[in-house]
Amino acid sequence: MHHPYISTVEMVYDHGLLIIRELKDPMSRILITSALPYINGIKHLGNLAGSMLPADVFARFQRARGHEVLYICATDEHGTPAELAAAKAGQDVRTYCDEQHLIQKNAGEAFGLSYDWFGRSSSPENRELTQTFCEALDKNGLIEERVDKMVFSIDDGRFLPDRYVEGTCPHCGYDKARGDQCDNCGRLLDPTDLINPYSAVSGSRNLEVRDTRHLYLLQTKVEPQLREWIAGKSEWPQLALSIANKHLEEGLIDRGITRDLKWGVPVTKDGKPRPGFEDKVFYVWFDAPIEYIGSTKEYFTAQGDPDGWQKWWRLDQGADDVRYVEFMGKDNVAFHTVSFPATILGSGEPWKMVDTLKAFNWLNWYGGKFSTSMNRGVFMDQALKLLPADYWRWYLVANAPESSDSSFTWEQFQATINKDLADVLGNFVNRILKFTESKFDGVVPAGGEAGPLEEKLYTDISALLVEATEAFEAMEMRKAAQAVRRIWVLGNEYLQEAAPWTAFKTDVERAGVIVRHGLNLVRLYAVLAQPIIPFAAQSIADCVGVELPLAWPSMDAKAELAKLASGAKVQSGEVLFKKIDDDMVAEWAARFGGSEA
Ligand code: 2FM
Ligand code: ZN
Repeated sequence: MHHPYISTVEMVYDHGLLIIRELKDPMSRILITSALPYINGIKHLGNLAGSMLPADVFARFQRARGHEVLYICATDEHGTPAELAAAKAGQDVRTYCDEQHLIQKNAGEAFGLSYDWFGRSSSPENRELTQTFCEALDKNGLIEERVDKMVFSIDDGRFLPDRYVEGTCPHCGYDKARGDQCDNCGRLLDPTDLINPYSAVSGSRNLEVRDTRHLYLLQTKVEPQLREWIAGKSEWPQLALSIANKHLEEGLIDRGITRDLKWGVPVTKDGKPRPGFEDKVFYVWFDAPIEYIGSTKEYFTAQGDPDGWQKWWRLDQGADDVRYVEFMGKDNVAFHTVSFPATILGSGEPWKMVDTLKAFNWLNWYGGKFSTSMNRGVFMDQALKLLPADYWRWYLVANAPESSDSSFTWEQFQATINKDLADVLGNFVNRILKFTESKFDGVVPAGGEAGPLEEKLYTDISALLVEATEAFEAMEMRKAAQAVRRIWVLGNEYLQEAAPWTAFKTDVERAGVIVRHGLNLVRLYAVLAQPIIPFAAQSIADCVGVELPLAWPSMDAKAELAKLASGAKVQSGEVLFKKIDDDMVAEWAARFGGSEA
């Protein structure tokens, strides 16, 4: 991708005065990761809304700002979720993962998720990194072998780690808590904590507790370093910070990082299978975050630059000027603020660590939960069969579950799309282009001077450009979408008030000035649409004959609204957004369920 020129100054309107100021943050490198989706099946809109999509919006915004962005994701393929799903599908785990990885990769692309690389945690790169991390921790005295009591299923003839066992949460009483975490109260659990446990494989309650040997990461020894590290993160968005602090207050415990499973990263010592651990693998939550690095390595290896990943991840190889931002749902925060940092800090090696962590609450389905296991809600592949990606992207960003959980409903979806995209944005673009075609031969009119209406437009839009830019920078998705929307609304109000169709009857030159501004607004809308609705941005740009990607606008609306050359050809394209009618909503609600969960 080529990076458009970006200046190191910006112009801002302040109380009607144009101020030129130095950009604090000239061109820099930004590493972005979104939580790695589990391999077990295509993701629902809730997963998309709380990690991949906002990460993509931020990546696209920062690229438009002229930064060098590396956006990395991957499928999280190990552990019990993969084994259980493969068994259910009647496939061996490797084949299951191969297939599901491709399905998720394609769905991501179809949704416009602009990953620079979508890797796999089962890659050789991740295996090697994971083993190396553990060996470094071991050398630093932070790994200990302990004999553990684990749940063993007599009927299944195997240990039941993590999600293989379900039961009642000892903290909140939820009766479908999984052995690793309670979905209801978010607490991390140990399988032996569960009350009334049963096997997730067979449902058997014929369980007993047996001894088994495991590796423990001595997080308690890393605690002081960890606390010091988090203490430097007071600028983090509030949700992430409060969850991180809550977990620190609960106190750190040493964590088992191996499991009695076949599918995963084998455990080594000095590069050879670790004696006594031949039938065990690393816990999925140990190797999954390491795959952020592994996936980067996969990417650079595929580019023929096998060491290139280091300048993004190794502080001793130039990564100290990288800004690293992570996106994830709230249930993932503990792993990214305690477990993974403990691995990195404990290794004693100069790894790049996260600078900003942006977390999201849940997007619910009619007040209940989206659920993969219960097939409740709309999944990424189904969504795209109903409507183009941008409809979903817009709705999910404009209603991002930021300060609290939010709920998807068909009615709200319909209202948002019809109003914001069809009435406000689509209608504006269509109206001004049609008028230009009928009265100005489809050409940007020349001549005439801006009047008071245009001066007001410059001031209002400049202020909103500052607002939108600051919101995107702060990763405040709802605010960013709102500011962009208000810029669309201003365009409509301007056109309504300036009324070029009336002016045309008496003063063609005046009508030309208005149309020129209208067409420049269309161009500006294409630029602003790039992060959230990239496909529509392309169609809008095509109408006014400009090519994407376009650099993010300066804060000087007067300059931005003079970018289209007089005499340039423009043309109305196809209808940008079709309205969602009541029949469609009724049909979808019947098909997907759409009443109280
Ligand atoms: O909760 C999840 O979907 C996990 N698969 C996220 C993993 S994030 C990272 F650490 F790999
Ligand atoms: Zn609970």
